[in-house]
Amino acid sequence: MNEPFDGYRRRTIPPPDAELTQVGPGTPGGEYLRRFWQPVAFVRDLERPLRVRILGEDLVVFRDGSARIGVLHLHCAHRGTSLEFGIPLDRGIRCCYHGWAFDVDGRCLETPGEPRGSRLKERIWQGAYPAMEFTGLVFAYLGPPERRPAFPIFDSYDVPGHRLMPAAKFTLPCNWLQVKDNSMDPVHTAFLHALSSGYQFTEAFGVVPELDWALTEAGMAYIATRRAGDLVWIRVCDFIPPNIHQFTREIEEATAPKPTSRPVIIRWAVPDDDTHTTNFELAQVDPAWGFTPEQVALPGFGQSGDRPYAERQRHPADFDAQSSQRPVAVHALEHLASTDRGVIMLRGIVRDGIRAVASGGDPFGTHWREGQVIPTFTQDLVLHRPAASTPEDDRRLLRAEGRRVIVAVERA
Ligand code: FES
Ligand SMILES: [Fe+2]
Repeated sequence: MNEPFDGYRRRTIPPPDAELTQVGPGTPGGEYLRRFWQPVAFVRDLERPLRVRILGEDLVVFRDGSARIGVLHLHCAHRGTSLEFGIPLDRGIRCCYHGWAFDVDGRCLETPGEPRGSRLKERIWQGAYPAMEFTGLVFAYLGPPERRPAFPIFDSYDVPGHRLMPAAKFTLPCNWLQVKDNSMDPVHTAFLHALSSGYQFTEAFGVVPELDWALTEAGMAYIATRRAGDLVWIRVCDFIPPNIHQFTREIEEATAPKPTSRPVIIRWAVPDDDTHTTNFELAQVDPAWGFTPEQVALPGFGQSGDRPYAERQRHPADFDAQSSQRPVAVHALEHLASTDRGVIMLRGIVRDGIRAVASGGDPFGTHWREGQVIPTFTQDLVLHRPAASTPEDDRRLLRAEGRRVIVAVERA
């Protein structure tokens, strides 16, 4: 029963959706996320061994003297000292405490304090994960070895006239799924980034778009189509399960017709644990912009939590909206509306994947062949299309124009 001033009756907070939001070892969601290559560090941060927390596991990431990347369990197999204090060797890393050395595959290479002829090292292994470097970003695979998928290559990794560069890394104090929900919620770009907290990108974002979503070969996409006089601006962003999305730079003014432009940012939301998420980005950069690597590595406006609190209250942005949905958003308390169709679809894809893994299968998104280029649709496109005679017809026109720029697929 709804009635005024009934806060007293609404105090019970149900638990979050455990299946969708837990990431630790052995949880359904955690086992799902472990079936994919995940970014764990930027190479630029590996001057010394780097301590990281990924999917609830404490790890060390390092580069040895042969430029090989190691991703090992943090605590030394001898007596647990953290390998963040380890010394990289030509081959592997040496624990600072008693000098045991481990290769990047976890093999124990030396136990120097043991008597000559000791064969102890043959029985010792440090937990290790396969790792690889791509565009300055270290990816690791934390899942069962026999299920390791090919490293996926998206068509957005190659945009003519642009260079793919390592970009920002920033952490939000909340669960990964609400960070990803945001990626298929384009109506927030009109409110959060324009109408309700001041124009953060361009004025064109202040028009509430006609919204559409579709399944694609890579996952799903949103299509946000806005009218600007005689022009129609179509903005498309991709969600690629489990935790990738890509988007264009928020610089479209929609003042003149423009062919498809695709300088994209590709962002992985990697859970540190259930209540912390680190976004890792690669960005397509036009050399003509003259950006330094340091500039490319800066988070976009309001993405990270480093603005003063009063400023965040006056002009809240993505960090504030997402992390304040509680440490783990409680779906049972939500009132999902027509604008949330993309969020519902995204959660459906994630839940299907979790259940596929739980029942012994492979989740969607692990089926790519080695080297296959995966099509995606992120773009801005501005067309000359005068408005239809009625608002209803014009909405139909916007939706039809939007649909034409993507290839939708059906999935069982
Ligand atoms: S704790 Fe690492 S060598 Fe002893
Ligand atoms: Fe946003």
